Amino acid sequence: MRIAITGSQGQIVRSLIERGTMSDAEIVPLGRPCLDLGNPATVLPAILSVAPDIIINAAAFTGVDLAESEETTAYQINAVGAGAVALAANQLGVPVIQLSTDYVFDGGLDRAYREDDAPGPINAYGRSKLAGEQAVAAAAPRHVILRTSWVYSPFGKNFVKTMLGLGETRHELSIVADQIGRPTSALDIADGVLSICNRLKAGADAEDLYGIFHMAGTGATNWAEFAEAIFTEAASLGRHPVIVTRTTSDQYKTPARRPKNSRLDTEKLAKIYGVTLPPWQSSLSAIIMRLIESS
Ligand SMILES: NC(=O)c1ccc[n+]([C@@H]2O[C@H](COP(=O)([O-])OP(=O)(O)OC[C@H]3O[C@@H](n4cnc5c(N)ncnc54)[C@H](OP(=O)(O)O)[C@@H]3O)[C@@H](O)[C@H]2O)c1
Repeated sequence: MRIAITGSQGQIVRSLIERGTMSDAEIVPLGRPCLDLGNPATVLPAILSVAPDIIINAAAFTGVDLAESEETTAYQINAVGAGAVALAANQLGVPVIQLSTDYVFDGGLDRAYREDDAPGPINAYGRSKLAGEQAVAAAAPRHVILRTSWVYSPFGKNFVKTMLGLGETRHELSIVADQIGRPTSALDIADGVLSICNRLKAGADAEDLYGIFHMAGTGATNWAEFAEAIFTEAASLGRHPVIVTRTTSDQYKTPARRPKNSRLDTEKLAKIYGVTLPPWQSSLSAIIMRLIESS
């Protein structure tokens, strides 16, 4: 099975490349300048050159705060670009998997969000990603929109790497404790996505395989607790301890507002695809060990 994936250096792209080498899937990354989501004319030729069985759109404008001042660019990449990828998939007659986000929700619910809960993004990034979901659904009936959350990995930029970097020079950090969500390893996402690809290939016409699905690490936490877990794990590997104090979103202002609750309910993915990601703590432990050993 040949899988084309947009982007080349992103967390999920690199995780899929790594996990792909352990499977019989051939992963073909399509990054800029060959495929530029900001220039939709590049999308179809790049994808045609690969002749894939499945296309994954994992590239995106992911700067949540930057999107507040660059909403037009975020929309062009996350909505128009995503739509062009789905259109190409439809023209080739192959399924498309679109990565999306917990930030399509406003965070006002007091339970985990299900796929059919009404979205209501409270920042520009979330609006652009929701528009991307809609563009993909309109362009390709055979789509899997996969919302995930709080992604970390050994690659690129993410909260875990930021905390480990800060922990090298700081002994105390103040982190927000009033946003809850489900941390998710990009390597686990890659495993889950490969399972989905296998099922899509085997049962390509089964209608229940398509639509919106939530995929996230098992278990929920807040950013302060997540940071504590990172520093506890790092200390067990010889790093000096770091004290985490709790703050609130009101005290720690960022350009983009974040939902207070962005827990995703992942039951549908478990039921239809038989995919449940591991507890975030065990995946975190393996990734921290890898990061510290390679530093
Ligand atoms: N990170 C999170 O916490 C999180 C949470 C929920 C959902 N998601 C979603 O998961 C997906 C992957 O996220 P990630 O964390 O792996 O992202 P990431 O590490 O920030 O990587 C983004 C990727 O997009 C590519 N890209 C950006 N602009 C592009 C353009 N104009 N044309 C082509 N490629 C472009 C980048 O290309 P280069 O390789 O050239 O830099 C990179 O490969 C995204 O859809 C994101 O919205 C992420």
